[in-house]
Amino acid sequence: MDRRLLKAAGMTHPTSHVSHVFDPMPDAERAAFDARYLSQLRARDGLPELSTRTFTLREALFRDLVENPVRRAGRPVVDPEVFARNHLLHEPEPDLDEPMLWALCMAKCNRGERHGVDYKLARKGFDSGGVDDPFTYVEIEETYHTRMLVDALRVIGVEVELVPPRGLTRWVVEIFGVAPRSFSDVVALDAELIGLAMFKLLLEKARALFADQPAPLARIEALLGGIVVDEIGHIHFLRSRLGPARLAVARAMFHVVARGLLDDNPEVGRLFGRERVIARALQFGLDGWTAPLPDRQAPERVVAPRTTRASRADLQPGW
Ligand SMILES: [Fe+2]
Ligand SMILES: [Fe+2]
Repeated sequence: MDRRLLKAAGMTHPTSHVSHVFDPMPDAERAAFDARYLSQLRARDGLPELSTRTFTLREALFRDLVENPVRRAGRPVVDPEVFARNHLLHEPEPDLDEPMLWALCMAKCNRGERHGVDYKLARKGFDSGGVDDPFTYVEIEETYHTRMLVDALRVIGVEVELVPPRGLTRWVVEIFGVAPRSFSDVVALDAELIGLAMFKLLLEKARALFADQPAPLARIEALLGGIVVDEIGHIHFLRSRLGPARLAVARAMFHVVARGLLDDNPEVGRLFGRERVIARALQFGLDGWTAPLPDRQAPERVVAPRTTRASRADLQPGW
Protein backbone atom coordinates (compact mmCIF):
# COMPACT_ATOMS: atom_id res chain seq x y z
CA MET A 1 0.00 0.00 0.00
CA ASP A 2 2.75 2.42 0.90
CA ARG A 3 4.40 2.05 -2.47
CA ARG A 4 1.13 2.87 -4.21
CA LEU A 5 0.63 5.91 -2.03
CA LEU A 6 4.21 7.07 -2.27
CA LYS A 7 4.26 7.06 -6.02
CA ALA A 8 1.00 8.96 -6.03
CA ALA A 9 1.09 12.26 -7.83
CA GLY A 10 2.40 15.36 -6.12
CA MET A 11 0.32 18.41 -5.38
CA THR A 12 1.02 21.87 -6.56
CA HIS A 13 -0.12 24.65 -4.32
CA PRO A 14 -2.21 27.57 -5.43
CA THR A 15 0.82 29.82 -5.39
CA SER A 16 3.86 28.12 -6.84
CA HIS A 17 6.04 31.14 -7.49
CA VAL A 18 6.34 32.85 -4.11
CA SER A 19 9.27 35.24 -4.10
CA HIS A 20 9.17 35.50 -0.35
CA VAL A 21 6.47 34.65 2.08
CA PHE A 22 6.35 38.16 3.58
CA ASP A 23 6.07 39.85 0.19
CA PRO A 24 2.48 40.71 -0.73
CA MET A 25 0.65 38.42 -3.11
CA PRO A 26 -0.54 40.15 -6.31
CA ASP A 27 -4.14 41.36 -5.94
CA ALA A 28 -5.58 39.15 -8.69
CA GLU A 29 -3.92 36.07 -7.21
CA ARG A 30 -5.16 37.00 -3.77
CA ALA A 31 -8.73 37.42 -4.99
CA ALA A 32 -8.68 34.05 -6.77
CA PHE A 33 -6.93 32.18 -3.99
CA ASP A 34 -9.84 30.84 -1.92
CA ALA A 35 -11.66 29.20 -4.80
CA ARG A 36 -8.50 27.46 -6.02
CA TYR A 37 -7.46 26.37 -2.55
CA LEU A 38 -10.92 24.99 -1.79
CA SER A 39 -10.98 22.92 -4.95
CA GLN A 40 -7.55 21.51 -4.12
CA LEU A 41 -8.62 20.76 -0.56
CA ARG A 42 -11.74 18.97 -1.77
CA ALA A 43 -9.73 16.89 -4.21
CA ARG A 44 -7.22 16.01 -1.53
CA ASP A 45 -9.35 15.55 1.58
CA GLY A 46 -12.92 15.05 0.37
CA LEU A 47 -15.70 16.84 2.18
CA PRO A 48 -15.54 17.84 5.86
CA GLU A 49 -17.82 16.12 8.37
CA LEU A 50 -18.17 18.87 10.97
CA SER A 51 -19.63 16.73 13.77
CA THR A 52 -16.73 14.26 13.72
CA ARG A 53 -14.04 16.70 12.49
CA THR A 54 -13.11 14.27 9.72
CA PHE A 55 -12.81 14.30 5.91
CA THR A 56 -14.47 11.74 3.70
CA LEU A 57 -11.41 10.87 1.61
CA ARG A 58 -8.86 11.08 4.41
CA GLU A 59 -10.91 8.76 6.64
CA ALA A 60 -10.71 6.06 3.97
CA LEU A 61 -6.94 6.43 3.98
CA PHE A 62 -6.77 6.13 7.75
CA ARG A 63 -8.86 2.96 7.70
CA ASP A 64 -6.26 1.60 5.29
CA LEU A 65 -3.49 2.52 7.73
CA VAL A 66 -5.19 0.78 10.64
CA GLU A 67 -5.79 -2.34 8.58
CA ASN A 68 -2.19 -2.41 7.31
CA PRO A 69 0.06 -1.56 10.25
CA VAL A 70 3.81 -1.28 9.62
CA ARG A 71 6.31 -1.63 12.49
CA ARG A 72 10.07 -1.60 12.69
CA ALA A 73 11.51 -5.05 13.38
CA GLY A 74 14.18 -5.97 15.94
CA ARG A 75 15.41 -4.04 18.95
CA PRO A 76 13.43 -0.82 19.58
CA VAL A 77 15.29 2.34 18.53
CA VAL A 78 13.56 4.26 21.33
CA ASP A 79 13.26 2.97 24.91
CA PRO A 80 9.54 3.36 25.77
CA GLU A 81 10.22 4.06 29.45
CA VAL A 82 12.77 6.79 28.77
CA PHE A 83 10.40 8.27 26.19
CA ALA A 84 7.41 8.25 28.56
CA ARG A 85 9.45 9.97 31.27
CA ASN A 86 10.84 12.67 28.95
CA HIS A 87 7.56 13.29 27.14
CA LEU A 88 6.20 14.89 30.29
CA LEU A 89 9.28 17.03 30.98
CA HIS A 90 9.71 20.51 29.58
CA GLU A 91 13.48 20.17 29.22
CA PRO A 92 14.44 16.61 28.26
CA GLU A 93 17.17 14.80 30.20
CA PRO A 94 20.74 15.36 28.98
CA ASP A 95 22.55 12.92 26.68
CA LEU A 96 19.51 11.55 24.85
CA ASP A 97 20.34 10.07 21.46
CA GLU A 98 18.92 11.29 18.15
CA PRO A 99 16.11 8.71 17.76
CA MET A 100 14.85 9.64 21.25
CA LEU A 101 15.00 13.39 20.49
CA TRP A 102 13.26 12.77 17.15
CA ALA A 103 10.44 10.88 18.91
CA LEU A 104 10.08 13.66 21.50
CA CYS A 105 9.91 16.34 18.79
CA MET A 106 7.25 14.32 16.97
CA ALA A 107 5.18 14.02 20.14
CA LYS A 108 5.45 17.69 21.10
CA CYS A 109 5.85 19.84 17.99
CA ASN A 110 2.21 20.00 16.84
CA ARG A 111 0.55 20.37 20.19
CA GLY A 112 0.39 24.16 19.99
CA GLU A 113 -1.47 24.09 16.69
CA ARG A 114 -3.75 21.31 17.85
CA HIS A 115 -4.56 22.91 21.17
CA GLY A 116 -5.23 26.25 19.45
CA VAL A 117 -7.74 24.58 17.13
CA ASP A 118 -9.43 22.61 19.94
CA TYR A 119 -9.66 25.74 22.09
CA LYS A 120 -11.10 27.84 19.29
CA LEU A 121 -13.63 25.18 18.21
CA ALA A 122 -14.78 24.68 21.80
CA ARG A 123 -15.49 28.41 22.17
CA LYS A 124 -16.49 29.59 18.71
CA GLY A 125 -17.16 26.48 16.63
CA PHE A 126 -16.36 26.39 12.94
CA ASP A 127 -16.32 29.60 10.91
CA SER A 128 -19.58 30.72 9.32
CA GLY A 129 -18.65 29.37 5.88
CA GLY A 130 -18.74 25.80 7.22
CA VAL A 131 -17.83 23.27 4.55
CA ASP A 132 -17.15 26.10 2.09
CA ASP A 133 -14.61 27.81 4.31
CA PRO A 134 -10.89 26.99 3.92
CA PHE A 135 -10.50 27.54 7.68
CA THR A 136 -12.76 24.56 8.29
CA TYR A 137 -10.38 22.41 6.25
CA VAL A 138 -7.29 23.88 7.94
CA GLU A 139 -8.71 23.18 11.40
CA ILE A 140 -9.66 19.61 10.57
CA GLU A 141 -6.25 19.04 8.95
CA GLU A 142 -4.62 20.10 12.22
CA THR A 143 -6.74 17.50 14.02
CA TYR A 144 -5.44 14.87 11.60
CA HIS A 145 -1.85 15.93 12.19
CA THR A 146 -2.06 14.65 15.74
CA ARG A 147 -3.25 11.27 14.45
CA MET A 148 -0.54 11.20 11.77
CA LEU A 149 2.21 11.93 14.32
CA VAL A 150 0.87 9.26 16.68
CA ASP A 151 0.77 6.77 13.78
CA ALA A 152 4.33 7.65 12.73
CA LEU A 153 5.57 7.13 16.30
CA ARG A 154 3.79 3.77 16.45
CA VAL A 155 5.96 2.63 13.51
CA ILE A 156 9.02 2.85 15.79
CA GLY A 157 7.17 1.19 18.69
CA VAL A 158 6.26 4.33 20.64
CA GLU A 159 2.68 4.55 21.94
CA VAL A 160 1.79 8.02 23.10
CA GLU A 161 -1.18 10.13 24.01
CA LEU A 162 -0.36 13.71 23.06
CA VAL A 163 -0.84 16.31 25.78
CA PRO A 164 -1.66 20.03 25.46
CA PRO A 165 1.21 22.55 25.36
CA ARG A 166 2.35 24.46 28.41
CA GLY A 167 3.95 27.81 29.05
CA LEU A 168 3.96 30.63 26.58
CA THR A 169 2.77 28.50 23.66
CA ARG A 170 -0.43 27.56 25.47
CA TRP A 171 -1.13 31.13 26.53
CA VAL A 172 -0.49 32.47 23.03
CA VAL A 173 -2.57 29.87 21.15
CA GLU A 174 -5.51 30.37 23.52
CA ILE A 175 -5.47 34.14 23.06
CA PHE A 176 -5.10 33.86 19.32
CA GLY A 177 -7.67 31.07 19.12
CA VAL A 178 -10.43 33.48 20.07
CA ALA A 179 -8.95 36.72 18.64
CA PRO A 180 -10.37 38.21 15.40
CA ARG A 181 -8.89 36.54 12.32
CA SER A 182 -7.55 39.86 11.02
CA PHE A 183 -5.26 39.89 14.06
CA SER A 184 -4.54 36.19 14.62
CA ASP A 185 -3.64 35.49 10.97
CA VAL A 186 -0.48 37.60 11.37
CA VAL A 187 0.98 35.53 14.21
CA ALA A 188 -0.40 32.29 12.77
CA LEU A 189 1.65 32.85 9.61
CA ASP A 190 4.86 33.09 11.67
CA ALA A 191 3.95 30.04 13.76
CA GLU A 192 3.07 27.98 10.67
CA LEU A 193 6.46 28.82 9.11
CA ILE A 194 8.29 27.50 12.17
CA GLY A 195 6.01 24.44 12.28
CA LEU A 196 6.72 23.67 8.65
CA ALA A 197 10.48 23.99 9.17
CA MET A 198 10.24 21.51 12.06
CA PHE A 199 8.26 18.98 10.02
CA LYS A 200 10.64 19.28 7.06
CA LEU A 201 13.65 18.73 9.32
CA LEU A 202 11.92 15.81 11.08
CA LEU A 203 11.25 14.19 7.71
CA GLU A 204 14.89 14.56 6.68
CA LYS A 205 16.07 13.24 10.06
CA ALA A 206 13.79 10.20 9.77
CA ARG A 207 15.44 9.37 6.45
CA ALA A 208 18.86 9.57 8.11
CA LEU A 209 17.90 7.57 11.20
CA PHE A 210 15.60 4.84 9.91
CA ALA A 211 16.92 4.05 6.40
CA ASP A 212 17.90 0.50 7.44
CA GLN A 213 14.25 -0.66 7.22
CA PRO A 214 12.68 0.78 4.03
CA ALA A 215 9.02 -0.19 4.55
CA PRO A 216 8.68 1.37 8.02
CA LEU A 217 10.58 4.43 6.78
CA ALA A 218 8.20 4.70 3.82
CA ARG A 219 5.24 4.78 6.20
CA ILE A 220 6.86 7.53 8.30
CA GLU A 221 7.74 9.50 5.16
CA ALA A 222 4.21 9.24 3.85
CA LEU A 223 2.71 10.49 7.12
CA LEU A 224 5.18 13.34 7.63
CA GLY A 225 5.10 14.22 3.91
CA GLY A 226 1.31 14.54 4.16
CA ILE A 227 1.66 16.96 7.07
CA VAL A 228 4.26 19.01 5.18
CA VAL A 229 1.92 19.36 2.19
CA ASP A 230 -0.92 20.47 4.49
CA GLU A 231 1.27 23.03 6.25
CA ILE A 232 2.53 24.53 2.98
CA GLY A 233 -1.11 25.02 2.02
CA HIS A 234 -1.84 26.72 5.36
CA ILE A 235 1.03 29.16 4.81
CA HIS A 236 -0.08 30.12 1.31
CA PHE A 237 -3.64 30.52 2.58
CA LEU A 238 -2.63 32.80 5.47
CA ARG A 239 -0.38 34.82 3.18
CA SER A 240 -3.28 35.28 0.78
CA ARG A 241 -5.30 36.84 3.62
CA LEU A 242 -2.71 39.47 4.53
CA GLY A 243 -2.09 42.78 2.80
CA PRO A 244 1.25 44.65 2.80
CA ALA A 245 0.85 46.22 6.27
CA ARG A 246 -0.01 43.01 8.09
CA LEU A 247 2.70 41.08 6.19
CA ALA A 248 5.19 43.70 7.38
CA VAL A 249 3.99 43.12 10.96
CA ALA A 250 4.35 39.34 10.48
CA ARG A 251 7.90 39.87 9.22
CA ALA A 252 8.73 42.14 12.18
CA MET A 253 7.28 39.66 14.70
CA PHE A 254 8.75 36.53 13.15
CA HIS A 255 11.79 36.18 15.40
CA VAL A 256 9.80 36.80 18.58
CA VAL A 257 7.25 34.12 17.66
CA ALA A 258 9.99 31.72 16.52
CA ARG A 259 11.97 32.08 19.73
CA GLY A 260 8.85 31.62 21.86
CA LEU A 261 7.97 28.38 20.07
CA LEU A 262 11.53 27.07 20.24
CA ASP A 263 11.75 27.94 23.96
CA ASP A 264 8.70 25.76 24.51
CA ASN A 265 10.16 22.89 22.46
CA PRO A 266 13.75 22.51 23.73
CA GLU A 267 14.17 19.09 22.09
CA VAL A 268 13.80 20.73 18.66
CA GLY A 269 16.77 23.02 19.33
CA ARG A 270 18.70 20.08 20.77
CA LEU A 271 18.19 17.93 17.68
CA PHE A 272 18.52 20.53 14.91
CA GLY A 273 19.92 23.73 16.43
CA ARG A 274 17.58 26.68 16.93
CA GLU A 275 19.22 28.89 14.32
CA ARG A 276 18.92 26.15 11.71
CA VAL A 277 15.18 25.84 12.29
CA ILE A 278 14.76 29.62 12.03
CA ALA A 279 16.91 29.80 8.89
CA ARG A 280 14.94 26.97 7.31
CA ALA A 281 11.63 28.68 8.03
CA LEU A 282 12.85 31.86 6.37
CA GLN A 283 13.82 29.96 3.24
CA PHE A 284 10.16 29.28 2.51
CA GLY A 285 9.47 29.97 -1.13
CA LEU A 286 13.12 30.48 -2.00
CA ASP A 287 14.46 26.96 -2.36
CA GLY A 288 11.85 24.91 -4.12
CA TRP A 289 9.87 24.21 -0.97
CA THR A 290 6.69 24.67 -2.86
CA ALA A 291 7.58 22.09 -5.47
CA PRO A 292 5.32 19.05 -5.56
CA LEU A 293 5.95 16.54 -2.78
CA PRO A 294 5.09 12.85 -2.57
CA ASP A 295 1.58 13.18 -1.29
CA ARG A 296 -0.08 10.46 0.70
CA GLN A 297 -3.42 12.18 0.36
CA ALA A 298 -3.13 12.57 -3.39
CA PRO A 299 -6.46 13.05 -5.11
CA GLU A 300 -8.11 9.86 -6.26
CA ARG A 301 -11.30 11.58 -7.28
CA VAL A 302 -12.42 15.14 -7.41
CA VAL A 303 -15.32 16.11 -5.19
CA ALA A 304 -17.53 18.80 -6.63
CA PRO A 305 -18.02 21.90 -4.49
CA ARG A 306 -21.41 22.07 -2.82
CA THR A 307 -21.80 25.75 -3.46
CA THR A 308 -19.84 28.58 -4.89
CA ARG A 309 -19.02 31.45 -2.60
CA ALA A 310 -17.58 34.91 -2.97
CA SER A 311 -13.84 34.95 -2.53
CA ARG A 312 -12.77 35.49 1.07
CA ALA A 313 -10.16 38.01 -0.07
CA ASP A 314 -12.85 40.60 -0.62
CA LEU A 315 -14.12 40.03 2.93
CA GLN A 316 -10.67 40.73 4.33
CA PRO A 317 -9.08 44.06 5.16
CA GLY A 318 -6.84 45.11 2.29
CA TRP A 319 -4.02 45.84 4.70
FE1 LIG B 1 -0.12 21.16 11.88
FE1 LIG C 1 -0.83 24.33 10.13
